[in-house]
Amino acid sequence: MNERKELIIDKVEKTFPLPSGDGRLKVLEDVSLSVEEGEIIALLGPSGCGKSTLLNIAAGFERPDEGQVLFMGEAIESPSPQRGVVFQSAVLFPWLTVRQNIAYGLKRNKKSGFSGRKNHEEIEEICSRYIRLVGLEGFENYYPAQLSGGMQQRVSLARVLALSPKMLLMDEPFAALDAQTRIAMQQLLLTISAQLRPTVLFVTHDVEEALILADKVYVMSRLPGRIISEIEVPFQRPRPISIIGSAEFSKIKSEILELLFN
Ligand SMILES: Nc1ncnc2c1ncn2[C@@H]1O[C@H](COP(=O)(O)OP(=O)(O)O)[C@@H](O)[C@H]1O
Ligand SMILES: [Mg+2]
Repeated sequence: MNERKELIIDKVEKTFPLPSGDGRLKVLEDVSLSVEEGEIIALLGPSGCGKSTLLNIAAGFERPDEGQVLFMGEAIESPSPQRGVVFQSAVLFPWLTVRQNIAYGLKRNKKSGFSGRKNHEEIEEICSRYIRLVGLEGFENYYPAQLSGGMQQRVSLARVLALSPKMLLMDEPFAALDAQTRIAMQQLLLTISAQLRPTVLFVTHDVEEALILADKVYVMSRLPGRIISEIEVPFQRPRPISIIGSAEFSKIKSEILELLFN
């Protein structure tokens, strides 16, 4: 097996029982993809095509009916702090401040004796580092309700990054944000990626977002979700937002739109 392949999804099938109780809905059909260490992969597809289902399988929240899912060569059987998940809306504790939300996972690991256990000073130091990285200095003592949606997503990201995951699994994390905040968050993710080099599997229904962020885009069909195309993104990094205006960007974007709407 290729050692650089950090995540391997091989011939995965997934069905769910229909609400009527009469039969099952096929959501994923023969889905195979792989993600190399340090790569940013976008999983692009129409709403309801099974993207979240596939991400949940990679996270260890769901199991496939058929096929194999391997992370660093081992079958994924449950969630792990090695694979940090960021959802569309920030999942924060409303009664904890920004700093306390970010520290939460680190403290819990300390209690449970997880191998990455840290003492109090280390936890404070790590929190400060990630608060800086996501641009939340000065907001450490705010509660989630006192933050904008974009700032809340920054906290989610910092909280996941504080656990030093090898991989980030991101499920439309910026889809609920306004257009300008979304661009700021995409640029933040690119900065973080350049500094920390996590492997990223990023789910989106937005073609431009996929092309701005990813090294490679996997395009999914409508239900049952299949991979219909694998596209290498030809743009150099760093990628300024201005690439959106280039002829090459428009060309790839329209090719992908054709795939999605055919
Ligand atoms: N736990 C579940 N039970 C039954 N059906 C589900 C479940 N999760 C997802 N589905 C169905 O699977 C399909 C794909 O859902 P999802 O993976 O959330 O799509 P996407 O993220 O691409 O919008 C939808 O038709 C949805 O209703
Ligand atoms: Mg989804």
